[in-house]
Amino acid sequence: MTANVRQSGFQGKRADLLPQVRNIIVVASGKGGVGKSTVSANLALALAHTGAKVGLMDADVYGPSIPLILGVTDRPEVVNDTTILPVLQHNLKVISMAFFMREGEAAIWRGPMLHGVIQQFLGNVQWGELDYLVIDLPPGTGDVQLSLCQSIPLTGAVVVSTPQDVALTVAMKAIAMFRKLNTPVLGLVENMSYFSCPHCAQRSEIFGNGGVRRGAERLGLPFLGEIPLDIRVREGSDQGRPTVVHAPDSPQSKPFHDLAGAVAAQISIKNVGAAEKEKLGGFFNKLSDAIK
Ligand SMILES: Nc1ncnc2c1ncn2[C@@H]1O[C@H](COP(=O)(O)OP(=O)(O)OP(=O)(O)O)[C@@H](O)[C@H]1O
Ligand SMILES: [Mg+2]
Ligand SMILES: [Zn+2]
Repeated sequence: MTANVRQSGFQGKRADLLPQVRNIIVVASGKGGVGKSTVSANLALALAHTGAKVGLMDADVYGPSIPLILGVTDRPEVVNDTTILPVLQHNLKVISMAFFMREGEAAIWRGPMLHGVIQQFLGNVQWGELDYLVIDLPPGTGDVQLSLCQSIPLTGAVVVSTPQDVALTVAMKAIAMFRKLNTPVLGLVENMSYFSCPHCAQRSEIFGNGGVRRGAERLGLPFLGEIPLDIRVREGSDQGRPTVVHAPDSPQSKPFHDLAGAVAAQISIKNVGAAEKEKLGGFFNKLSDAIK
């Protein structure tokens, strides 16, 4: 018997692939442009800010944007055919397809190739010991999602949505996919929740705020928090100076720290639940042995 709670209930998946990674979180959305990469980067940084060891995998092989958001200029070291050393940036171990593409080059992927890249990112990158591996997904419900969910036991998915109804409707599709693939959903985040005026701090609910919270309630899923539309967040991402690193104690970073806290809390609840179940399972096994 293994004491690793992460491995329980994941028959068929390769729990041995990342033995030193305690929690794997995917950041997903139904549609593009809702802020997955911004949330992934700042979530990873906020988790690292608490002292955790964190890795960030950019699994958006179609439009990798994590290196730009983090301002990475280094390249990973490829040691041999089987070992890639991730880039260390702002205390995060980072890997992205962008490191292996020429600028302006488009990546055209067929299913098996995609699966191969994901396997390499999981198996050949020397992640070492991590408390959290955050994975930024491409939008939607495609091959990358399928490959990841089927390869390794994911701790859970964080689903990002904007408040508009259409965005939430497509977010439901992503949630349905994770449920089908037996990947827990840790909860929903509302990004671009409201506009916070940098001049007078007045709050304008451009897209109508609160839709994602209500959606989460309806689905019986945790609501992980709201992140306002903030020009400093956008500028930080575009300039490779993410908010949480550049201005960790600022009001615009607070929602990301709060999100990291909410995600960590949901993971603890899940892990305690799994450990309890395992203990209970052991108890019932002993009981049935005793009765025999
Ligand atoms: N809370 C926010 N405040 C201001 N700008 C934001 C916020 N979140 C994201 N953005 C901006 O919106 C744009 C899209 O964000 P991002 O690239 O993170 O989305 P995405 O969901 O990863 O997109 P894709 O589906 O293309 O991967 C970026 O220019 C980003 O800087
Ligand atoms: Mg993205
Ligand atoms: Zn104003």
